[in-house]
Amino acid sequence: MSAPAAITVENLARTYQGGYQALKGVTFSVAAGEFAAIMGPSGCGKSTLLNILGLLDRPTGGTYRLEGALTAGLGDAELTALRRARIGFVFQAFNLLPRLSALENVALPMAYAGAAVAPRLERARALLDRVGLGRKGEHTPLQLSGGERQRVGIARALANKPALLLADEPTGNLDSTSSAEILALFKELNAEGTTIVLVTHDPAIGASAQRVLRVKDGLLA
Ligand SMILES: Nc1ncnc2c1ncn2[C@@H]1O[C@H](COP(=O)(O)OP(=O)(O)O)[C@@H](O)[C@H]1O
Ligand SMILES: [Mg+2]
Repeated sequence: MSAPAAITVENLARTYQGGYQALKGVTFSVAAGEFAAIMGPSGCGKSTLLNILGLLDRPTGGTYRLEGALTAGLGDAELTALRRARIGFVFQAFNLLPRLSALENVALPMAYAGAAVAPRLERARALLDRVGLGRKGEHTPLQLSGGERQRVGIARALANKPALLLADEPTGNLDSTSSAEILALFKELNAEGTTIVLVTHDPAIGASAQRVLRVKDGLLA
């Protein structure tokens, strides 16, 4: 038997309170090991879709299978545990904790997952090395450039060895040089086997993806 797809969604819909239909029924799957980009105009539902894939939000219709398993029946605590174990999420605005060092930010998801202090700091150091920030572990986010902050964000997303890396406009706040570095990093991670789904407006990133899912008005175009 072949491995299940990383992601399978069928007729996925999300209606927000007040009745606005941000997603109107989308169906697709992403194979394990694939690098897929979600593109489309502002307000078309990209973040709504990615938040559901990241188990940060629930659909109001349709089904989402993560690695073959239906997510609909899971309670909040189970979703949180599943997200921690299988998914890394990278945000456009980095979402680092400003009072913590880079090292502490990267180690935080491991603390939530119950790892002891010494091994999580050791792994956080290795991850910062991996993203080229080995010498800036003691810096706080304000002492880092935008590109460096996003590399911390990626290292943090990798903390618990996710099978699936999701990123919502990860280069949206970065200059072109930093964006190219971040893209190179995503490509390396994908080459090492991590499934990647990212939302982007950057044509260079879209061109690097194996597949582009185009969203328009809450539907796949
Ligand atoms: N929490 C929310 N409540 C109500 N409407 C929302 C909420 N989040 C997003 N929306 C609306 O849903 C639509 C899609 O939003 P979003 O998924 O963020 O789009 P994109 O990421 O493609 O720019 C937008 O019209 C937005 O205003
Ligand atoms: Mg968005």
